[in-house]
Amino acid sequence: MTHDEAREELAGLRELLARYQHEYYVDGRPSAADREYDRLFDRLVLLEKEYPDLVTPDSPSLRVGSDLDASFPEAAHTIPVLSLDKAYAAAQVSAWMEKTSAAAGRPLSFMMEEKIDGISLVLYYENGVLARAVTRGNGFVGNDVSANARTIREIPLRVPRSGNFAVRGEVYLETGTFAELNTRMEIPYANPRNLAGGTLRRSKSSETAKIPLHVFVYEGFFDPPGETHSGIMAELRRLGFSVNPRNALISAEDAGDPEKIAALIEGRVKDRPGLSYQIDGIVFKVNELAVRDDLGFTGHHPRWAIAYKFDSPEGHTRVIKIEIQVGRTGRITPVARVEPVEIGGATIENITLHNQDYINALELSEGDLVAASRRGDVIPAVERVIEKNENAPLWRMPDVCPSCGAALVDRGAHRFCPNTEGCAEQRKGRLIFFAAKDQMNIENLGGETVEFLWKEGFVKDIPDIYKIPYEKLSGYPGFGERKIERIRQGIENSRDQPYEIVLPSLGIPEVGSKVTEILCENGIDTVEKLFELAASEGGAAALVSLYGIGEKTAQRILAEFSRPETRALVDALAAEGLSFAAKAKAPAGGPQIFAGQTWCVTGSFENYKPRDLAMDEVKKHGGKVVSAVSGSLTHLLAGEKAGSKLAKAKSLGVKIVSEEEFLRMLRG
Ligand code: IVH
Repeated sequence: MTHDEAREELAGLRELLARYQHEYYVDGRPSAADREYDRLFDRLVLLEKEYPDLVTPDSPSLRVGSDLDASFPEAAHTIPVLSLDKAYAAAQVSAWMEKTSAAAGRPLSFMMEEKIDGISLVLYYENGVLARAVTRGNGFVGNDVSANARTIREIPLRVPRSGNFAVRGEVYLETGTFAELNTRMEIPYANPRNLAGGTLRRSKSSETAKIPLHVFVYEGFFDPPGETHSGIMAELRRLGFSVNPRNALISAEDAGDPEKIAALIEGRVKDRPGLSYQIDGIVFKVNELAVRDDLGFTGHHPRWAIAYKFDSPEGHTRVIKIEIQVGRTGRITPVARVEPVEIGGATIENITLHNQDYINALELSEGDLVAASRRGDVIPAVERVIEKNENAPLWRMPDVCPSCGAALVDRGAHRFCPNTEGCAEQRKGRLIFFAAKDQMNIENLGGETVEFLWKEGFVKDIPDIYKIPYEKLSGYPGFGERKIERIRQGIENSRDQPYEIVLPSLGIPEVGSKVTEILCENGIDTVEKLFELAASEGGAAALVSLYGIGEKTAQRILAEFSRPETRALVDALAAEGLSFAAKAKAPAGGPQIFAGQTWCVTGSFENYKPRDLAMDEVKKHGGKVVSAVSGSLTHLLAGEKAGSKLAKAKSLGVKIVSEEEFLRMLRG
């Protein structure tokens, strides 16, 4: 290779890597596989080593990517925040251990840790108090996300240790939680890591607080530093940090035995599917800190650690056809039916393609050979097209509903069938939703059974569930007497479900269990009150004043309760004995000292972070919480930096309560 050729290749590599880094760290939507990225990166490092005069100040090898976000203040790191060197085979790990021991002049022991696939965070403690939480950023400067990090329960806000020190760890979301949250997202996240990252960067820490983020810490920076990594981990555990209990020390003897190392890695690969969180590799670290100092760093990674990276399992399959699903809300979702393929232990036949943008980005047609994966090890996804079916055009969404023929409409990124009442697929979707486990939870009436009853014309609408002619079912294969009786029993039992379950089960847009809870807590605890609000002038204002309900939600709810179809549905179900009023609950939280009062909470608080916690106290003690200051307000709880709400409340003569006073009231 000539010098000029090297210069040209390096320029191309820099450009490509910079783009991939941006996609990975900033957009959270990488287009290149990790392995491909690593291959390019390694090539860059190799060429730069050979032609040191061609290293430019902007080379990606000189830094570790950036996830800087303009909306958070920047904070400089006082510790080196580096990345890890990588290996893809056990033999590579053994070779590295041997090389490292040779450099140290004696056999070394190593710590083996899981490489948690989350978001790297550095926690700075000053005299025992969490002073700052900073993202990795470019390794030198990161984003200060302290307010959000403080909502993570596994991050201690105060520890029994004086002086200043830093702790590095990984913030993550459990796989199960991710799967559950993601089904409720308008545009789903690709994996738990991206959702955890998005959550850590929410502009309101109260939003972060709603998501159960976890953390494992894996490096501590103390002064004096101590002797071993395992010692530091023990100290961190003592201080109350969450340290992965699966970390394991490998003795010098075992480290010298490649078969042992291969077996250890194999064991961890086997354990991986059973973990409640995602890992993308195994990290091996020199345990003795003095040796770490001697080994030092390259610009990109320390020489005292290496990550064995898993290949995320992929399978190749052909798209047989792309079909349309019409959801219960009318949302149109394209689904690829693919030739059955096994990926990471599950057989995949259907892959959701979300919307037209998604299909355009893949340039997908029917008949294409594709690489498929399970994002976050759960959700099947098409990664890329491997071989085009040249005979088929790029797939396009239809313009009319395949179920009812109505002209489709675009709302945001998605296409919808607007024929709410007349579209058979939407009705069927609502039936399945109503009976499902997370809703009315009608035993023995799962999706397949509903589908069957619907196909045979026994149920067309939700109320039909309570009028099934059971005697006619017995002729069908698979419907023995016992099965029919179990279905009947499940349906009968469901008549006793409380209002808080019944209302969200109807599938009325925006009226889910959270909104139902907010409504009930604020006295809008019967369906009739909702119909009344919808018919009244000030209905929208009354709903918007409730904490947790915004303008758009309020409008949509009222529009739904103005529809004669909603009235008819409720009447038909009420006639079947279903509950449309909440039972008066025994007060949950001790003395109802705020009963009859309406509170608004503003500013920030010492004891309530996020301030939702103060609102919870008000509600627990019988008070109502609203989000705006108006004439109906009786109390304003004002914390530090309370602004316009405080001024307005004062002018209205509302009682202003300080945090101190509030605590006194609660103590009685
Ligand atoms: S040690 C200087 N240990 O992997 C060494 N990193 O590519 C610092 N990670 O940015 C890293 N689990 O976000 C280390 N047990 C672990 C880890 C871990 C996850 C992440 C970390 C880092 C990336 C390295």
